[in-house]
Parts: sequence; C-alpha cells; structure tokens
Amino acid sequence: MTSTKTKIANFEFDNCIMNAAGVLCYDKDELAKILNSAAGTFVTKTATLEPREGNPEPRYHDTRLGSINSMGLPNLGFDYYLDYLLELKKTHPKRTFFFSLVGMSQNDTHTLLRKVQESNFDGITELNLSCPNVPGKPQIAYDLETTEKLLTDIFSYFKKPLGIKLPPYFDLVHFDQAAAVFNKFPLSFVNCVNSIGNGIIIEDEKVVIKPKNGFGGIGGEYVKPTALANVHAFYQRLKPSIQIIGTGGILSGRDAFEHILCGASMVQIGTTLHKEGVSAFSRITSELKEIMEKKGYKSIEEFKGKLKYL
Ligand code: FUM
Repeated sequence: MTSTKTKIANFEFDNCIMNAAGVLCYDKDELAKILNSAAGTFVTKTATLEPREGNPEPRYHDTRLGSINSMGLPNLGFDYYLDYLLELKKTHPKRTFFFSLVGMSQNDTHTLLRKVQESNFDGITELNLSCPNVPGKPQIAYDLETTEKLLTDIFSYFKKPLGIKLPPYFDLVHFDQAAAVFNKFPLSFVNCVNSIGNGIIIEDEKVVIKPKNGFGGIGGEYVKPTALANVHAFYQRLKPSIQIIGTGGILSGRDAFEHILCGASMVQIGTTLHKEGVSAFSRITSELKEIMEKKGYKSIEEFKGKLKYL
C-alpha cells in the first residue's frame, strides 16, 4: 500500500499534506473543515496576544498564477485558539495539531510562548518569524541577530516542540548564515517558505489590494522555484533533528512530490486551498500517490531529500 504518512517532532500524521497558516484557519468553523478533510492535520491562523482586525480590505486577491495578500494578521487572539485546541484534544485525543503564533513585540512573543509552555497543549507550536504585512514591523527572520537572541531567550524556558516559519532567502550566503543560527537550537522544524514579501500586482493600471498602497505577500505558482530552493538549501544545511516543512506553489501532486524530493517531511497548501477549498487535499494526495506508485515508492521516506544533481 502506498502511504503518504509522515512524522514531525515524533508525532505521526496519516497524510503529509496540510494547510498553510492563514488559509481556512481563522475560526473553529474553518478549522473543522480541514479537520474533516483528507489533510493530515491543520495549523491555526497565526495568533497574537490580543485579537486583531488586520489591514483594511481589499487585502487578498487571486490571480491566474497565484495570489497577493496583505491581511495584517487578523485573528481571534491567542486564548481563542488555545481553548479550541484543548477542546479538540478531548474529541481527537490521538491527533496532533499545529498552533501558529507571534507577538507584536518580543515581550508579547515570550508571553505567548510561556502561556503555551504552562498550558496542557501537547501539540506543535509554529512561531511565525516571517509575516510581511504588518506596517512598521519587518520580517523577523531577515534579522538574524534578533532571531538568534529571540531563540536563545525562548529555549531557556520553552521545552515543547517548536518550529519556525521562515521568509524566503535568496542568496546562498544567507542560507549558510541562517542555517548556522538555526543549528544552535533544538528546533523541531523550519517551515520554508512564507509568501515572497512585498510584491505588487497590477490590474487596469491599479494595484489590487488596499494596504501599503498595494504591496503584499506573493503566493501560488510564482513562488514554487523559490520555495523548493529554500527547502533544499535548509535540508542540505540543517542538522537532521530539524525537519523541513515545504510551503509554496503546491498546486498538484507533482508539486508536493518535488517539495518532498527537496527534503520536506510535510507540505502545506496555501493559495491552492484558498482557490479550491478542502477538496484540494484529496486531489493532491491522490495525484501524489499516483506518482509514487508509478515510481515504485511505498513511503515518502524512500525519496525524501533525494534530489538528483547533474
Ligand atoms: O498578513 C498576514 O496575516 C499574513 C501573515 C503571514 O504571511 O504570516
């Protein structure tokens, strides 16, 4: 039997395909749709200490090749998602979910992570170091000094499984520098990549989203080569205990296969899920299984990271 099972941080998942934070994960109704789909698990919308309205609309726009967004971290606040995750544990004791969060300041981030540490949450935490859409707040993981200090402080008290969501890097030296920092910590995973920050899409001589005069994060087909490069660059450089989650440009089973070939242990679907809804999970899973069957692979372990070079 061909299986797309995977493990992250020693938790097992029946399928290596899930949503990307930000898509279909704002509230319990949306999360329940993923819960009851073919996805292996879900990640919540990135939570901040207090609920946030986010940026003015229109703030998301689909295009033929992908999407642009400047949502501005709209979310229902940390307590809402934590309560839901704890509630879910009662009905789904064997399943593991991802909790995405980040503070509006370093102090807030520590407050959030201390709360997770003290809570009964026993899933996986994803710290979002890469949101490009909050005016005046740069993407944290582009500042490696700040990132190193933040992770040093966090791991002095945080003992549960923790991974980080990264922005794309574009230079081999930056991959080296970032990996050298991440390798100092007991991270469970890095998630490559968030949207490519601060692009512009134009239609009828106008930008298509309102915040920041049209600058926003680019997702979808535009992003796949960059996402694959980031997955593979970190797969080559990180210690084996830090797994890779691949996100960006997954429209088909073939795209998921390529992410895994580059080293991803799990793949996340963003723009395609937004365009197609939860049926994307079953479609992409069957397409991935079909490719695996044709190639004689029974599990993703058999081809994970095995990208061939010329
Ligand atoms: O603007 C947003 O809410 C997006 C967040 C992210 O890309 O992490």
